[in-house]
Amino acid sequence: METLEIPSSHYSSVMPVWVVCVLLSSLIHQTEQNGYLPPVKYVKVYPEENDMGAWVLNVEFVENTESENRMYDIEVLRTEQMMRVHKETIYVKAHPTIHHHWKWTSPLPLQCTSHSVRLRRRDQHQTSNWSALYTYKGQDLNASSPDFYPQNEYFLVGSNVTFCCILKAENVPSFRSSTFTIRISNRTFITEPFQFDSTSKNKNLFCDDHEGTTFFIGYTPDDQNLTCVTRDLSSVQCSWNSGRETRLEGLRGETKYTLNGRRCQFNPCVQPENNETSWTLTAQNPLGVMIINDTADPLHRVWLNGPKNMLSNVNERNATLQWSWDEQKYNSFSIICQVELNRNIYNKTFSGTGLKSFVLEDLQPVTDYSAKVHCGSSEHFYIWSEWSKMTDFRTKEDIPEPVDVWMQYLEESTYVIWKKHLTKDQSNGVLTGYKVTITDTENKTSIYHAGPNSTYYSVSSVNETGNQMISVSAKNSAGLSPPASIIITRYPASRVEISRINGSNGGFDIVWLESSSSTCGYVVDWVPTYSHEKSAVQWKRIPAGHLNKRIESEFLKQGVRYNVSVYSCTSGAPQLLQRGEGYAIEKKPFEIVGNIKVKSNGRNLVLSWEKLPLDKHGGFMLGYKVNIFHYASNKTEEQYETKNTTVHLKLSPGSYAINISAFTSAGEGDNATFHGRIEKDILEMILATVVGSSLAAFAFIIITFMCFKWRKWLKKMLYPDIPKPKLSGQWTKKGIYCSEMTKKDLKCEIHEVHSVERTALDVEDGTFLIRSTSILLPANDLYQKCSEFPDVSSFSPGTSFITLDPISSQPFIQNLISAIENPSYNLISQESINISLLSEPALEMDDSYHPTPNNVHNTFQNKDS
Ligand SMILES: *[C@@H]1O[C@H](CO)[C@@H](O)[C@H](O)[C@H]1NC(C)=O
Ligand SMILES: *[C@@H]1O[C@H](CO)[C@@H](O)[C@H](O)[C@H]1NC(C)=O
Ligand SMILES: *[C@@H]1O[C@H](CO)[C@@H](O)[C@H](O)[C@H]1NC(C)=O
Ligand SMILES: *[C@@H]1O[C@H](CO)[C@@H](O)[C@H](O)[C@H]1NC(C)=O
Ligand SMILES: *[C@@H]1O[C@H](CO)[C@@H](O)[C@H](O)[C@H]1NC(C)=O
Ligand SMILES: *[C@@H]1O[C@H](CO)[C@@H](O)[C@H](O)[C@H]1NC(C)=O
Ligand SMILES: *[C@@H]1O[C@H](CO)[C@@H](O)[C@H](O)[C@H]1NC(C)=O
Ligand SMILES: *[C@@H]1O[C@H](CO)[C@@H](O)[C@H](O)[C@H]1NC(C)=O
Ligand SMILES: *[C@@H]1O[C@H](CO)[C@@H](O)[C@H](O)[C@H]1NC(C)=O
Ligand SMILES: *[C@@H]1O[C@H](CO)[C@@H](O)[C@H](O)[C@H]1NC(C)=O
Ligand SMILES: *[C@@H]1O[C@H](CO)[C@@H](O)[C@H](O)[C@H]1NC(C)=O
Repeated sequence: METLEIPSSHYSSVMPVWVVCVLLSSLIHQTEQNGYLPPVKYVKVYPEENDMGAWVLNVEFVENTESENRMYDIEVLRTEQMMRVHKETIYVKAHPTIHHHWKWTSPLPLQCTSHSVRLRRRDQHQTSNWSALYTYKGQDLNASSPDFYPQNEYFLVGSNVTFCCILKAENVPSFRSSTFTIRISNRTFITEPFQFDSTSKNKNLFCDDHEGTTFFIGYTPDDQNLTCVTRDLSSVQCSWNSGRETRLEGLRGETKYTLNGRRCQFNPCVQPENNETSWTLTAQNPLGVMIINDTADPLHRVWLNGPKNMLSNVNERNATLQWSWDEQKYNSFSIICQVELNRNIYNKTFSGTGLKSFVLEDLQPVTDYSAKVHCGSSEHFYIWSEWSKMTDFRTKEDIPEPVDVWMQYLEESTYVIWKKHLTKDQSNGVLTGYKVTITDTENKTSIYHAGPNSTYYSVSSVNETGNQMISVSAKNSAGLSPPASIIITRYPASRVEISRINGSNGGFDIVWLESSSSTCGYVVDWVPTYSHEKSAVQWKRIPAGHLNKRIESEFLKQGVRYNVSVYSCTSGAPQLLQRGEGYAIEKKPFEIVGNIKVKSNGRNLVLSWEKLPLDKHGGFMLGYKVNIFHYASNKTEEQYETKNTTVHLKLSPGSYAINISAFTSAGEGDNATFHGRIEKDILEMILATVVGSSLAAFAFIIITFMCFKWRKWLKKMLYPDIPKPKLSGQWTKKGIYCSEMTKKDLKCEIHEVHSVERTALDVEDGTFLIRSTSILLPANDLYQKCSEFPDVSSFSPGTSFITLDPISSQPFIQNLISAIENPSYNLISQESINISLLSEPALEMDDSYHPTPNNVHNTFQNKDS
């Protein structure tokens, strides 16, 4: 770095006496000069020292240059050997000042060795002689002890430093060093220049065993963003970022701070407030200085301490938060506070002088909350304080919301029903029950308490003429909800036609006409038509002005018929406006038809069955499908669709399966199957059974004999009094029939023959329904059990049907034979056979009887054909 400075006023203060002398002689020279340039005289050479060491050589000389521009050659020579290390020509403009100052920065500390300077004057045509040598003497000339330069320990990143070592003269010959490799004078060795970049680490450097140093490479301070605030309203606290690290270590390397000239701790620096509004921070380290400042009114920079000792005082729907301040001055300061409630900022802020509490409103009863508070200056808001500690609280129970009350007429009874409070928002606590108040037309009231799980109250004694007002309130620990009332009449006031409604997309769209009776809107209710469940009804209140309602599928079951009613809400009892019935989604019938019965007359059959129970229809019943399958031809012979539960058939001989299924718009339900056979001819049949019959005749005689012996007992057991058969009358017969199932079991069947002249099932006169049931008995128990046969009337409808006829009763006879062979079987009396014989018109047992699970079985045969 080379500069030419022209110092002005400050120079005079340091101007030594010699300069004054030089001035005078210079004037003389000036006048003398004519064509010949005298050498420069009056030169002073001295180093400039700072923390970094002596690197800059100052050269001052005095000459009057007022009249013309001048040039000077300057040479710097090093060591006694006068090695030229710098040469330069400088220009001096015409200037009244005669004092000149030139600086040169040496790559080597000036103490390392002697530096000499000489100058000469020059113009276009000639140069003066060189001045004398002006020398700044190095320490190598006379230092008695070894020396090391530079002696400072701190270097800026990016600097380029050459170190030197001055040895004792006697040590020079033996000196060996890998770093101090260059000898520049008798006692001085120097290093190659060290280039310190940002990656350079702190270094230890040694010259010989004793001389050396640790030096640090770093940066000047880089502190930024000075911000001064007040926290307690009586002192100022300034803080800042230190910026880039200086990387300097050691006590001397630390950055020292002053704030407005006062010593200061690093971050934060706290000083009493003394009406200052601007602050200047000086940060200094061995490498340099950083000055930053901040300007503000401290009262616009208030950063409060957080609220302390949070307390809460809780009600049902509001809570008071209280706290205290740890600074006395806050109590007279305008404060604004903000709350975080359950992790959300409460949308209202609170302010006041020395604010210490506020009320949170619109809270939910019986709810857990956690809140924290922070505050700031409300006049000149600058920053929020730290948050207070979190405070947790739970609001108290409040009285429940009013219940939604409705009514249901079910099986001649009236019920007041209500919707249970399902959510906490409705119950506002733990429900303990319901209070039902009944007020009649004469203002007589009676009170009834229902448990928390009740949803209805049976209005048992509704006065036939008068109305009753039923009020229902829910109860919890906070008290009773406002009563919800409904006025009940004995029967619905108006009767309406029930229309059919169609479901759409699994729900119902209900539309009605505006009613003049409506004063508070409408109520739509819906209930499964065949439900006997109390409070199965669901309802929805519709505000006035709306005349339609969609009942969504989530409230409806598929395949269930619903009654949907629309009421107008009035100041009195609700008025029924319209009622419809329908399925949200129709399904196939859920059950098979039951109780299939067959009457035969030759090849003509009359097939009948029972209607499905209403709740099993699954949809609007469209009719029945009857399918007659002929086994021999392996194909469906005939198909019928009928709305009746009776069909007349005429079939040719053969085995058949008859399937009957009910159907709705959604399809057919499962088939009830009926297997049967039409015999060819009675003659063929007799021939076919003649062999069996002869055997049977033999057995018959024996049995007759046996039975005769036991007849009294049997008669007493089974038919104490046998009425004379009379086809047109009402009569009943029983018979038992046993067959061997396994070696040990007998299957005994009991048969009942009775006329069904007039039954609810509407079967034609003169036909016979034959019912039987089977009971499995261990063989040796037969006697005993036969006496305990249950009464036929207790058999449930739909049990297997088996017809019995003496002629075709081959298995029966065979079993009787085995019974005879086995003495324990000789209990079958003749009378039981007689009873069987009495069953006229006789029906026959079919030997092709094959039980099939889950179906109704029957066998029919006609011997008249
Ligand atoms: C470091 O200083 C030496 C000697 O003064 C010089 O030759 C060299 O170019 C300098 N290096 C840098 C990077 O400035
Ligand atoms: C330097 O050393 C040489 C020889 O060793 C000697 O002649 C000379 O005087 C010395 N110079 C100084 C200044 O000591
Ligand atoms: C100083 O503040 C400015 C703006 O406020 C910011 O961008 C910068 O990052 C801050 N400096 C430091 C060192 O934090
Ligand atoms: C600050 O100013 C107020 C009035 O402006 C004065 O009363 C107070 O003494 C001053 N404080 C200091 C520390 O100077
Ligand atoms: C503060 O510093 C900025 C630049 O850092 C300067 O512009 C400003 O004048 C200074 N203000 C004061 C009051 O010293
Ligand atoms: C807080 O709740 C109590 C009890 O319900 C009530 O008396 C008080 O008025 C409420 N306070 C506010 C500010 O709403
Ligand atoms: C806060 O929110 C409630 C409900 O969201 C609202 O009623 C109230 O007006 C809001 N208050 C403010 C100050 O925004
Ligand atoms: C029932 O009480 C109401 C008011 O409480 C009154 O207006 C009405 O006349 C009373 N009815 C009878 C029948 O007492
Ligand atoms: C109400 O029902 C709940 C659950 O169904 C049961 O835990 C509770 O005991 C019932 N309360 C009463 C009073 O019956
Ligand atoms: C029904 O109420 C009427 C008057 O409102 C009264 O005369 C009659 O006795 C009541 N009947 C019964 C059974 O309470
Ligand atoms: C009955 O017919 C069906 C096809 O119609 C056939 O698969 C089946 O094998 C036939 N059964 C007999 C016993 O012929």
